[in-house]
Amino acid sequence: MNAIEVKNLIVRFGNNIILDNLNFEIEEGCITAIIGPNGSGKSTLLRAIMGLIPFEGEIKIFGEPNFKNRHLLGYVPQHYNIDKFLPLTVEEFLRLSLIKKKFDEKKIKQVLEDIDIFHYFKKELRDLSGGQLQRVLFAKALINEPLILLLDEPISEIDVAGQKEFYSIIKHLNEKHKVTILIVTHEITIVHHFAKHVLCLNKKLICNGPVSLLFNENLLKELYGREIFVYPFNKPLF
Ligand SMILES: Nc1ncnc2c1ncn2[C@@H]1O[C@H](COP(=O)(O)OP(=O)(O)O)[C@@H](O)[C@H]1O
Ligand SMILES: [Mg+2]
Repeated sequence: MNAIEVKNLIVRFGNNIILDNLNFEIEEGCITAIIGPNGSGKSTLLRAIMGLIPFEGEIKIFGEPNFKNRHLLGYVPQHYNIDKFLPLTVEEFLRLSLIKKKFDEKKIKQVLEDIDIFHYFKKELRDLSGGQLQRVLFAKALINEPLILLLDEPISEIDVAGQKEFYSIIKHLNEKHKVTILIVTHEITIVHHFAKHVLCLNKKLICNGPVSLLFNENLLKELYGREIFVYPFNKPLF
């Protein structure tokens, strides 16, 4: 079954077309990377799937219009604006984020342990570092046990040790719980080890296929507008 189906998707901001007639499907249980240059519409695409911005066309989540099945989506945004005047702790923030309003202490404890945020659970959000906040946002996405995770450059501020854990968690969720993953990233080398599928975006969909497509220099040149070299590792990174 398709986890996500996008048909004739157009997003405009004012007179500018940001996403120009995208059509693609994401199979359930697949890890898909979205790559593309800055400003190519990657974050806009995830926000449209989440139903956070108006769009033309159709976005279906497990066969239903996206707004009907939004509760099946977990989202880690690229940027998150914290209200500096709001004295909200990590714990309070996570409790407020629960869709079911039932705090399953055991499950949540497991998520917090996996993501390693226990030691700043009582800290206020506004006092966290960028990397700590990214971890909290990841926890927020996971506590509702989503069937699809949308991750927008989720490790850009996380330290190197944390990045490895982060990828293991995602892999675990995908392999054990069949969570479908859509991840925006610039780490092409990691993408190659990690994702099965890739979408190349630059306002239009430039490619849609297996990650091996990334070794096509002409395609990357078309996408980024200049030569890109992808180092072809043979061994898994993690
Ligand atoms: N709310 C908005 N209003 C106007 N323009 C926007 C808005 N959000 C994004 N854009 C524009 O849409 C384009 C794509 O942005 P974005 O999706 O953030 O790109 P990416 O994530 O690929 O770097 C950019 O040109 C950006 O300036
Ligand atoms: Mg972005």
